[in-house]
Amino acid sequence: MASKLIALIPGDGIGPEVITQARRILELYREKRGFDLDLWQLDLGADRFLRDGVMYPKDVEGRIAGEASAVLLGALGDPRVPGIEYAREILFGLRFGLDLYANVRPVKCLDDRLVPLKGRTAKDVDMTVFRENTEGIYVNIGGQFKRGTPDEIAINEDVNTRKGVERLIRAGFEFAKANGHKVVHMADKSNAMKHAHELWYRCFFEVAKEYPGIEAKHLYVDALCFFLVQDPSPFKVVVTNNLFGDIVTDLGAALQGGLGMASSANVHASDPSRVGLFEPVHGSAPPLAGKDLANPLASVLTVGMMLTHLGYAGEEARLEAIVRKAIAERKCTRDVGGELGTRAVGDFVVNELAHSFG
Ligand code: IPM
Ligand code: MG
Repeated sequence: MASKLIALIPGDGIGPEVITQARRILELYREKRGFDLDLWQLDLGADRFLRDGVMYPKDVEGRIAGEASAVLLGALGDPRVPGIEYAREILFGLRFGLDLYANVRPVKCLDDRLVPLKGRTAKDVDMTVFRENTEGIYVNIGGQFKRGTPDEIAINEDVNTRKGVERLIRAGFEFAKANGHKVVHMADKSNAMKHAHELWYRCFFEVAKEYPGIEAKHLYVDALCFFLVQDPSPFKVVVTNNLFGDIVTDLGAALQGGLGMASSANVHASDPSRVGLFEPVHGSAPPLAGKDLANPLASVLTVGMMLTHLGYAGEEARLEAIVRKAIAERKCTRDVGGELGTRAVGDFVVNELAHSFG
């Protein structure tokens, strides 16, 4: 295999700490398994923006689009930059610019101890959410009028295209087919938003006809939130729009044991040879930054998703097994019931990984 260029953007807050651990894993794969990974560390984020005003430079954007196989992002967001414009430039620059229309977020609980629901076990929490990632309210079409006056108006348009909706729904069904799932759920708010979400509703059942062995079930997003807390076990694949996917996957993270356990992939799902963006869902968590408190396990799982994307089959399962063991043996951070720091959890993971290579 030719060398694969991986852009690493540690970013802000706890991002650098968790990406340091992720990088150790990638370096071990390089050293012990001969994975030909070219790691390209980028200095982007709040520090850089405050230092020289740079957000997401064109030359970096061009090289990522033209040469990289994957981008691994820690987190963006810093209280020193209240508007976080630079963060949107980078994150949305990657998601929109690379047309990464499927934000794939596994909501999988890896230990009974982490399930927050009474009477439920880890096996009840095992689904993958496909969040549309290039449209919706996130395109920021709109504006403000008479700002700062009592007559102020603020508008954000919700953009839904047939192409965008259809390809995301299809990605969900393709995933279900590939993984033997018998049902795909779609959540919208078509009872209130009769234009945009009627498109989702219609498109969902049209695409579903192409997958005769898979049942298509529609529900309103408020009901989905209700059922996810009451009994998440029927949900295996959930497709939804950008905003609802953002919200539902934070609820999902709570079902997994917290944001420290939630991984994600942003991909152009119909063509896996294109560059993908991989990021733990937790965000920059400013109060935890620099204290060796951040849970690196979401990043370990995210590296697993990235390795699958890069064609290293089996490594995602290997890393997931190590994460399970870290939780089971309490070799983990406080948010998931352990007493270790970020770096020590990284040590555990790297050791286990080295041993697993035999
Ligand atoms: C996420 C985050 C982002 C989003 C923010 C930082 C803009 O919440 O990745 O879930 O809403 O997509
Ligand atoms: Mg979010």
